[in-house]
Amino acid sequence: MNTFKYTPENEVKFQEYVSRYPKIDSCMLPALWLVQEQEGWLSPESMIYVADKLGKTPIQVYEVATFYTMFNLKPIGKYHIELCKTLSCMLCGSQEIKNYIKQTIGIEAGQTSEDGLFHLSEVECMGACGGAPMFALNGEYHEKLTIEKVDELIKECKK
Ligand code: FES
Repeated sequence: MNTFKYTPENEVKFQEYVSRYPKIDSCMLPALWLVQEQEGWLSPESMIYVADKLGKTPIQVYEVATFYTMFNLKPIGKYHIELCKTLSCMLCGSQEIKNYIKQTIGIEAGQTSEDGLFHLSEVECMGACGGAPMFALNGEYHEKLTIEKVDELIKECKK
């Protein structure tokens, strides 16, 4: 038996997405986003669940989930730091931010901290070059980062 299920709120959102599109196939990405918002990652059970809801095979859902790097295919930390590594951010100090994260949290890109609190990803340009260097923290942009700002954010997350 599948252990994954949308929360009642997410089931409502899913039905709303379904009503927006002429073909249910188009709901694959929003359906997977709902899973990731709910669980933080896409488990095999959740992909089977989405496949059932969309009338697809699990492999069809898996193909989509593995194509997009934004989907997490294993559990990650409670706070997901997506640090931009592209040119503007690199020139404005993203490497220093990365080094500071390594020094204070003890993680490299692609790693989750031992306490399960933080996960660091290095990503390509997030379209906020004017605010370089920047990262997204659980999807929220933080721009013109300094070591002091990063330190404050890390402390906030640890509270
Ligand atoms: S280069 Fe970092 S947001 Fe564009």
